Amino acid sequence: MASGQMSRAEALECKGFRHACHVMLYSDTESQLFGKTPIKHIVLMQMRYDGLLGFPGGLVNPSEETLEAGLTRELLEEVGLAVPIREEDLVETCIAPPHPGFNPRLILHFYVKKMEEEQIRELEKAATTTAVDHGLEAMGMVRVPLYTTKSGGGLPNFLSQSFIGNARTQLVTSLRRLHLVSPGELQRALQNSLRMHA
Ligand code: GTP
Ligand code: MN
Ligand code: MN
Ligand code: MN
Ligand code: MN
Ligand code: MN
Repeated sequence: MASGQMSRAEALECKGFRHACHVMLYSDTESQLFGKTPIKHIVLMQMRYDGLLGFPGGLVNPSEETLEAGLTRELLEEVGLAVPIREEDLVETCIAPPHPGFNPRLILHFYVKKMEEEQIRELEKAATTTAVDHGLEAMGMVRVPLYTTKSGGGLPNFLSQSFIGNARTQLVTSLRRLHLVSPGELQRALQNSLRMHA
């Protein structure tokens, strides 16, 4: 497990830290790419205003709102629907690693929530219509290709994109833990992606 990991309670006792909550929303699907490659699962990320891929969510203020209420508020802003998030959906809490010359003093809370495919579709519509941050902080939701095509495209290419913070690790760890991609296929995709971290 990643270093700097802590419990929710420990995190909330830390003084002088800001908190951010992000969530991986996903569903099962029967869809097939080109009518033959099973998509199996829909996993949502977003293109951020800074050109990096990340999960929807953002800074929360635990003195004014619970972590989960803050995350639901951020989802309303960025995705256009107030998806309810529960304490049980929290997967990992860790301190954001300092950059050279800059310590963000930020605690990151990562959630995972399974939805119905129909809810995912509604959410994708809302993200371009009712979301106030659309075209501002959030440049659009994207689905993660979980398959690898014959020519080696799909997940390996996706993992070669640039990600905010440890979002790439959060994605890879979740795909593994939830068995959304088989261990062998995930390992090959990581080896064939241009970036080898995580
Ligand atoms: P503002 O309203 O402009 O403050 O943005 P926000 O509240 O939506 O915050 P944002 O989503 O940018 O998240 C705050 C910080 O958390 C970012 O500056 C990143 O350092 C970090 N962060 C953002 N997205 C992710 C993510 O998907 N995973 C992880 N681990 N960290 C993230
Ligand atoms: Mn936001
Ligand atoms: Mn955000
Ligand atoms: Mn915000
Ligand atoms: Mn904002
Ligand atoms: Mn599966």
